[in-house]
Amino acid sequence: MTPVLAASNIGKAYPGVRALHDVSLELRPNEVLGLIGQNGSGKSTLLKVLSGMEQPSTGSLSLRGQEAVIWSPLAAARLGIGLVHQEQSLIPNLTVAENIFFDKPSPHRRFGIYNWRGLNREAARQLAKLECDIAPDTRVDALSFSDRQMVEFAKVLAIEELVDQPLVILFDEPTSLLSPSEVDDLFRQIRRLRARASIVFVSHRMEEVLEISDRVHVMVNGENVAERTRDTTNHEELYHLMVGSRRSDDYYQESGREPVGASSPRLVVRGLSAPGRFREVSLSARPGEIVAVTGVAGSGAEAFCRAIFGAEDGVGGSVSVAGEELAASALPDAAIRAGVGYVPAERKLEGVIVGRTVLENIVLTFGPQMGRAGLINRRKETAHALSWINRLRVKTPSPVEYVERLSGGNQQKVSLAKWLMSDRLQVLILDHPTRGLDPGAKADLFGVMRELARQGLTIVFVSETLEETLGMADTVIVMRDGEVSARFEDLCLHKPRPEEIVEAMV
Ligand SMILES: Nc1ncnc2c1ncn2[C@@H]1O[C@H](COP(=O)(O)OP(=O)(O)OP(=O)(O)O)[C@@H](O)[C@H]1O
Ligand SMILES: [Mg+2]
Repeated sequence: MTPVLAASNIGKAYPGVRALHDVSLELRPNEVLGLIGQNGSGKSTLLKVLSGMEQPSTGSLSLRGQEAVIWSPLAAARLGIGLVHQEQSLIPNLTVAENIFFDKPSPHRRFGIYNWRGLNREAARQLAKLECDIAPDTRVDALSFSDRQMVEFAKVLAIEELVDQPLVILFDEPTSLLSPSEVDDLFRQIRRLRARASIVFVSHRMEEVLEISDRVHVMVNGENVAERTRDTTNHEELYHLMVGSRRSDDYYQESGREPVGASSPRLVVRGLSAPGRFREVSLSARPGEIVAVTGVAGSGAEAFCRAIFGAEDGVGGSVSVAGEELAASALPDAAIRAGVGYVPAERKLEGVIVGRTVLENIVLTFGPQMGRAGLINRRKETAHALSWINRLRVKTPSPVEYVERLSGGNQQKVSLAKWLMSDRLQVLILDHPTRGLDPGAKADLFGVMRELARQGLTIVFVSETLEETLGMADTVIVMRDGEVSARFEDLCLHKPRPEEIVEAMV
């Protein structure tokens, strides 16, 4: 069978980095091909080459049996190839309809002037392909993350109007910011679509890859090291191919934890409320305690954690750190001064400063505070930053590489490392810290969280899975509809059954 899309011996070099080396791959008609690999292994780069965003340094592509040069994303669209980005690429101040069509020829736009009715009607038709009823004239910045994802998806499906061939759709980590039910919806759409498309699917969650893909390719360091069919492989084998002999991701199921010492609480949150988001949530955590906050989408867990850091509007109630009261609805500045750190879930948008190097991102967060130490300590500071770069295995050609040139997962590690530099950090809040990390990096992160807790840091995190919750936390707070629905304490003495947590969530 002629492959729809084939890559032969593709190489891609950036200054100081060999992102892809001799990668060959075939995408067959109507199949879903899974692509996995550690952070920085070249997955996004490969999809960019296949979709005309980047040109390969070596090698060639062929499309439906004919050699093809894909000059640009527009050229790719004309050939029936579309990419759903890892970091969303929509333009926030344009409407849904404008976003779907701005990069395509449209009969409803002449000389740059839109026929709005026609354009909106056409956009609604594209969205309907996904059984999605977002109003086409909504501005994109008013949409939720998952709705924006649907618009990205519709934008790619609109390519169908330009070609009379089945599409090639490339998904770069489409699920990393979605809730389990949103993932189910997406999978339903992918299964429907495969009748008229061939699909490449990138994810770090191996269960997902195994569920949706017919075949899986494994990338290591820019090379395509293995190909498996779904029926002939399993979770363990894929993990091993991808990460090698490093410990597996059930590392966090570590036993023999000590109960947290009976010291006075460090973080005390009393009756925190934010209209429409959460109500009367209280929490008290001691030095060295790890608190997991969990709940389904809409539970308010994320907003509650952001509010502790002072990053939500209109919050009532009180937060104190080491006995010091933070002003109600305080801005993050006050929290940072009190030693609170926060790593957001949408790291690309909020977590790192583009145009700055990796080192600057890590060192400069505490600029004025660290500056106290004066020039003499610059070297110590740099050494400290470098040790975190090593410890978290941030894959970068050099510490002075621009942060935006790192892969998504490695940028995420940088957004964590910058907090770890502070010598006054008392409380660290992490929103879904493992999203976007490969399984090995996840184990590294859990190791670091454990060690920081042992040294006395208080950690509050929004957890991603039940395993994470049960494996990492001393205390679990379950939220439902904005309220605390259950609380479990001293997990190292007594673990709740997973069903008890699930019951409180739904
Ligand atoms: N524009 C660029 N300039 C320089 N280096 C780059 C650029 N884009 C990617 N790289 C490098 O190429 C390598 C592969 O990155 P890529 O984004 O493809 O990884 P990935 O497999 O998608 O990782 P992740 O799982 O973290 O998203 C990385 O080392 C990255 O730093
Ligand atoms: Mg990537």
